[in-house]
Amino acid sequence: MRLPGRCTLKYVAASLGRRGVFASRLNVLRRNSWNAAEFMPEAAGFEGVSGRDELQEYSVSNSESFWAAVAHQRLSWIRPFRTVQDCDLSRGRIKWFEGGKLNVSGESSVFDCVFCRELLEMTCRVGNLLRRHGVTKGDCVTIYMPTCPLAVVSMLACARIGAVHNVVFAGFSAEALAERIRDAESSTVITVNQGLRGGKVTELKKTVDTAVQSCPTVRQVFVATRTDNPFGFLQLVNRKSNFVLQEMLKEDVVCEPAAMDSEDILFLLYTSGSTGKPKGLVHTHAGYLLYAALTHKYVFSYQDGDVFGCVADIGWITGHSYTVYGPLVNGGTTVLFESTPVYPDPGRYWDMVERLKINQFYGAPTAIRLLIKYGDQWVKKYDRSTLKTLGSVGEPINTEAWEWYHRVVGDGRCPVVDTWWQTETGGICIAPKPSDPDAAIVPGMAMRPFFGIKPVLVDTEGKVLTSNNTSGALCMAQPWPGMARSIHNNHQRFLETYCQPYPGFFFTGDGAFRSEDGYYQITGRLDDVINVSGHRIGTAEIEDCSLVAESAVIGYSHNIKGQGVYAFVVLKKGVEVQEADLVKQLSNIVSEKIAKYASPDFIQIVKRLPKTRSGKIMRRVLRKVVECDLEGLGDLSTLDDPAAVQEILEGHEKLL
Ligand code: WT7
Repeated sequence: MRLPGRCTLKYVAASLGRRGVFASRLNVLRRNSWNAAEFMPEAAGFEGVSGRDELQEYSVSNSESFWAAVAHQRLSWIRPFRTVQDCDLSRGRIKWFEGGKLNVSGESSVFDCVFCRELLEMTCRVGNLLRRHGVTKGDCVTIYMPTCPLAVVSMLACARIGAVHNVVFAGFSAEALAERIRDAESSTVITVNQGLRGGKVTELKKTVDTAVQSCPTVRQVFVATRTDNPFGFLQLVNRKSNFVLQEMLKEDVVCEPAAMDSEDILFLLYTSGSTGKPKGLVHTHAGYLLYAALTHKYVFSYQDGDVFGCVADIGWITGHSYTVYGPLVNGGTTVLFESTPVYPDPGRYWDMVERLKINQFYGAPTAIRLLIKYGDQWVKKYDRSTLKTLGSVGEPINTEAWEWYHRVVGDGRCPVVDTWWQTETGGICIAPKPSDPDAAIVPGMAMRPFFGIKPVLVDTEGKVLTSNNTSGALCMAQPWPGMARSIHNNHQRFLETYCQPYPGFFFTGDGAFRSEDGYYQITGRLDDVINVSGHRIGTAEIEDCSLVAESAVIGYSHNIKGQGVYAFVVLKKGVEVQEADLVKQLSNIVSEKIAKYASPDFIQIVKRLPKTRSGKIMRRVLRKVVECDLEGLGDLSTLDDPAAVQEILEGHEKLL
């Protein structure tokens, strides 16, 4: 028998020299043993299962028995569940482990390290503070903070008292924040006075002040002091005003955890879709936690005592699942990274790997591509011998980046796992690991479905493609515990987006190729969603921003960011503006309405956009123009005015 693990937060603050170490043990995990065959101990009871492929097969054909065994053994239940699942994808009904009660932040029987106690105590204190200020079970708390210990504490405090957290990436503008607060009907906001990232100070509290003016549901704002600079208090008419989060220090360290139903909501997380309005995806307690913990353990071969370094911001799902919940449920040590890969220099990641003895490093291809440019010496300077697994997430990883990551960062010894998943899926769905120990990993391919995941490729007519060496729309044929349950306040949109395009399946929005050997490679979005530096943006969101008469935004291939933003705009009649001014103006508008990263790289002013006779903008044509693929322009005869394309081509050439 092994001793219970402990979980630790290692905090790599944005400012150098300010590092704190925090820790906790969350009690959801009961046993975390590891079996030699690199497969789950839970699999011991599955008849006829010995290899990885058999376990995979079992997990999808005997889904109930698989998930029941895993849920019983991996999660600590206050009351055990009655049913394993009650799902009907065609109706968008997804329920797991009903009748069960649990709380992720509950006390563990053993606190064997001071850091665990510290995190638990802080969680309890913030939980008490929120309760004392009237936050109750089911209330939504928006967290607008950088990746820092108090942000994690705030998330866990919500979980503890049964409030729903809604973390909004701290790079979002006041307007984008306000939209998310309003849609989530949040009563409470937690923020910091200022953020500090890559040597720059960001005025997060001021942004919140602006945002909450247009958020009538917000009753109170808690501010943690992240920097020593003073901040002003905002007086809201007829509302409570602000409180300093550090007031929690006056609170009791005991806070009774709420017994949460399996299907109670743990959090909302907003992400972009093809239409303008972001979607608040709903994730629930039991299923999400189980799936995050299981994938964290098996995809990365996480073992007790390992230090897990996921450098994603907690504002994204990657931060939720693999900085916070997965590692902490597994009793592990997790790193909070608040900086950028190049601050103060391009050795930042690897310096951190050496100092914190990181065993699994999980990052985005865009950062890898950026670091390649600075040369190998920044990597080689540091000892990376602790590294065991390298993970990639958020966008396709091109072969060059994959090879460099593998050869230079991992010295050719560490498997690189290209993990495909989405905010909607809650956790990793396709990844090279786990696999049988000798199985190959193909660069740039996510490859194998995780346990309980059954991907299918579907053609445009909705026919399932059964052969290999084929491409189609990537769908999931079976529900799994980690999947999103709904879109907040808009289940109809959930149905339309995910359940109705291919009835009976969950549609991911991505296309994929299945190789001769049956491995999956993601080919990209099939909708009007683009992926800039691993950040998902709906082109419609950017188009909604412009002051112009009409616009069309296209993603184009960018050698660092993965995709860049190219906007075609038609000016309003009578507007006389210098092209350079307009570009500046539009960039500012997008930064203010969404976030800096969404600003167009290119803005081309055109007289008109290519449209079909029924008035639909032909994005296919614009995409080909941006790719300079004249032959790919294809049939233009359905265009209302084919001359529009010629004009656009000429303008495009001038711009480059
Ligand atoms: C979209 C999801 C996954 C958490 C972070 C992003 C793209 C994600 C990969 C990958 C190719 C990928 C997809 C997906 N994507 N991972 N390994 N290879 N594409 O979550 O913001 O919800 O974005 O990111 O297009 O649909 P997200």
